[in-house]
Amino acid sequence: MLFKTPTEKSLELIVTPDHATAGTAAAEIVAALIARASTRPVTIAYATGSSPRPIYAELRRRHEAGALSFKNTRAFLLDEYVGLAPDHPNAFAHFMEDNLFRFVDLPAARRHMPDGLAEPDAACAAYENEIHGAGGIDLMILGIGGNGHIAFNEPGAPKTSRTRRVTLAEETRRANRRFFEKDEDVPTHAITIGIANILEARAALLIANGASKAGAVAQALAGPVTADVPASFLQEFEGELSVVIDDAAAASLKI
Ligand code: F6R
Repeated sequence: MLFKTPTEKSLELIVTPDHATAGTAAAEIVAALIARASTRPVTIAYATGSSPRPIYAELRRRHEAGALSFKNTRAFLLDEYVGLAPDHPNAFAHFMEDNLFRFVDLPAARRHMPDGLAEPDAACAAYENEIHGAGGIDLMILGIGGNGHIAFNEPGAPKTSRTRRVTLAEETRRANRRFFEKDEDVPTHAITIGIANILEARAALLIANGASKAGAVAQALAGPVTADVPASFLQEFEGELSVVIDDAAAASLKI
């Protein structure tokens, strides 16, 4: 259905009975974009975490069935923990390899990720250059934090923010504690693309599931546009915006 935000932004809203169905619907949007004829690789920025997992499972399934190729695509990660090597089991680079990249025909030279071990200012500048060199991002695949973050743009992130080193909110560290052995193992910092990078993309796809995301989804799509809820900046997104959520995540949205 078409959903209008308070800023009069029309977006495609798909509400599904469960997370798996949301993943399939979202994968259809990604596959359709990849299928569009393009003279340069289609550039996709990938979120990690629980929300996009069913998208990646469906994309893999389509690839394995011979119905989808990543040969003419380029991949960026939205973010990476500072201090983790790309092959660390909790690094986002490792997550993407493990959930999608190693199963598909995406050329190794077109897998871009912020360097969590490099000096952060240099790593961020290098990443901005890589995004620029690729001609920008065609599709952002985004999750949302319970506190309204997108990528790791935590509450307070300005609309003009670009790739930078950020301090993770305590709520975010608590939410991601489940992936680590001890409290102190959860990184305190990350490199993330900024709100400006997200708003510059040609299309964006937000996926969310579960009751814990209902408040953030409603604030993002139907509340005021504010840095307190960074996902609310999506109301100012100029390209094609799709939101795919399950019933539980849609519970606080008036539709
Ligand atoms: C991860 C990222 C984050 C997550 C968000 C939701 O690359 O950018 O914004 O999308 O924290 O995480 P999950 O899906 O694990 O609830």
